[in-house]
Amino acid sequence: MKVSYHGHSVIQIQSGGKNIIIDPFITGNPLTDLKAEEVTADVILLSHGHNDHVGDTVALAKRNDALVVATDELSTFLNWQGVKTHGMHIGGSYQFDFGRVKLTQAFHGSSYHTNDNQIIYCGMPAGILFMNEGKTIYHAGDTALFSDMKLIGERHPIDLAFLPIGDNFTMGPEDAAYAAQLLNAKKVVPIHYNTFPPIKQDPYQFIELLSNQNGLVLSPGESIEI
Ligand code: NI
Ligand code: MN
Repeated sequence: MKVSYHGHSVIQIQSGGKNIIIDPFITGNPLTDLKAEEVTADVILLSHGHNDHVGDTVALAKRNDALVVATDELSTFLNWQGVKTHGMHIGGSYQFDFGRVKLTQAFHGSSYHTNDNQIIYCGMPAGILFMNEGKTIYHAGDTALFSDMKLIGERHPIDLAFLPIGDNFTMGPEDAAYAAQLLNAKKVVPIHYNTFPPIKQDPYQFIELLSNQNGLVLSPGESIEI
């Protein structure tokens, strides 16, 4: 399958004829190569409710008639806005026609901030395991380092992991390098950095910190085959 990075935490997966996008924050994302009105998707997977992850989900889902998969609270909030959704929760997995999705724990917040200064509670934040064609991709979402990453890697040997390295809101490079080791992922790609001043990082320095893992920096618009 083909996996592309589009800046911040935006990942696109093309697998089995389906087009899957994770955390489509496009409008207002200074690093993305995508144009919100041109993005196509059959499925949108969301890690949590923060605006820099939900992003263009509602408009994108409506225009493409895409299915949105997220935690139950977040998916319900989006369903009430007229979007087709499938709610799940931490530890649960489901076999869709586009692959298997399992939500994992993440240590972070999950809320949507509206234009009129309301904070909408969106349940727990999650990491996302996506499994198809015999491969497993782990998108950690926004999270702190936690020791059960070892458990996630043991239960689901990971071919490709996307880990936040920005610090301030999530793991920084040192913790993310430790996470890569716990997860024992075959390949690790840094995400959630350089989008805003507080999360400025050098992704190549992060790659240097990895011990046995194969690190790879993807520029927005770059893809890999796994
Ligand atoms: Ni967040
Ligand atoms: Mn974030």
